[in-house]
Amino acid sequence: MSALFSQGRLGGLDLDNRIVVSPMCQYSGERGVAQPWHLIHIGNLMMSGAGLVIMEATSVEAAGLGTHGCLGLYTDEQEKALGSLVAQANKLSSARLGIQLTHTGRKAATRTIPERWRGEPLPPEEGAWKPVAPSPIAYDAGWQVPEELTEDGIRNIIQAFADSAVRADRAGFDLVEIHGAHGYLIHSFLSPITNLRTDGWGGSADRRNRFAIEIVRAVRAVWPRSKALGFRMNSTDWTPEGSTLDDAVDLARALETEGLDYVVMSSGNIKPGIAIPPAAPGHQVPFATAIKKGTGLAAMAVGMIAKPEQAEAVVASDEADFVALARPMLDNPRWGLHAAAALGADIRYPPQYIRARPNNWLGFGFVHPDAKPPATTQQLDRPKSVSSWDRPAAPEKPSTAA
Ligand SMILES: Cc1cc2nc3c(=O)[nH]c(=O)nc-3n(C[C@H](O)[C@H](O)[C@H](O)COP(=O)(O)O)c2cc1C
Repeated sequence: MSALFSQGRLGGLDLDNRIVVSPMCQYSGERGVAQPWHLIHIGNLMMSGAGLVIMEATSVEAAGLGTHGCLGLYTDEQEKALGSLVAQANKLSSARLGIQLTHTGRKAATRTIPERWRGEPLPPEEGAWKPVAPSPIAYDAGWQVPEELTEDGIRNIIQAFADSAVRADRAGFDLVEIHGAHGYLIHSFLSPITNLRTDGWGGSADRRNRFAIEIVRAVRAVWPRSKALGFRMNSTDWTPEGSTLDDAVDLARALETEGLDYVVMSSGNIKPGIAIPPAAPGHQVPFATAIKKGTGLAAMAVGMIAKPEQAEAVVASDEADFVALARPMLDNPRWGLHAAAALGADIRYPPQYIRARPNNWLGFGFVHPDAKPPATTQQLDRPKSVSSWDRPAAPEKPSTAA
């Protein structure tokens, strides 16, 4: 019995398994509006075998867009496009679909990444907008000095997160994840490196945490309990001057009392030039374990989890409740289906692809020699309970017996 393929629960959501597609910016929006690319990309991932797919970092206001290609969820046009995407994607599988809400803060207004691999600041002639931040400290040399947020500015952004959550609910998303990592606005309030304020929003750890806490409180107030609410957290700034894992666990405890359902533990990117240990397989899993041990929250691990056996071990040994994968899913958008075969777990295939299921295609064993056929192989085509994914069993012929 695979732990990875056991059913999971996040807040009010039941999930088919513990595999999550991690949010991945596509830099393919127009005016913050999702395009056909997004439906194709997300549609593919809905058929990956993951129990949960989380859409890319989506800004709660125009100033929070990272690039001209980032998505937003603060206009009716953006909401309509995402609502249509959700409706189409939900027809594809039983996977649940969530969205990550963000504000990029002082990292706003960079060039679109497919054009320039590393985000570089947009020059004014390319329509740069003014970034905002807790303190007026540029991300790096040559970047704009962000505007220091006023009390009203802070309140408006907290409200913008709640407003976008209302739109996400109307659009049909099952889950909202608040982006509190990677050096974006929330993380830059949390970290003493970027938050030099001396008012109620800076100074002590409690005051630096306040922005994140108030956002979670405001979103929780409008986000249904029947859905799930998560927070992508910075586990460490990887420098003694920055936030630490203990800070992250303290924040997670505070967010738990606000009604958060899960935390996903990422790290780094508060400022350039910090020496980070090279990313090894599962390098951030211990951070998720710290959340599991220190709080009652569900913990999601992310980062260099790429092999089915590795993902299985993380869940089976209780190091994390869920594993989130990003690049492995770009590499192989059928990752979950193949992982099921590798671990001997049963999984539903889209009916259109059922001919490629291990039990229906001898070539599967040729392409994936390590695959273990699931115990129920003979029944896969004729499941006892017919779901929308499975081909219905042929109708019984009327009995001729008396
Ligand atoms: C193309 C791409 C886009 C990404 N966009 C986001 C994003 O929108 N939000 C986020 O929190 N992380 C983002 N990430 C980081 C991933 O979600 C993930 O944390 C990271 O890639 C490590 O996981 P992996 O080793 O499975 O790729 C992105 C990563 C990639 C490769």
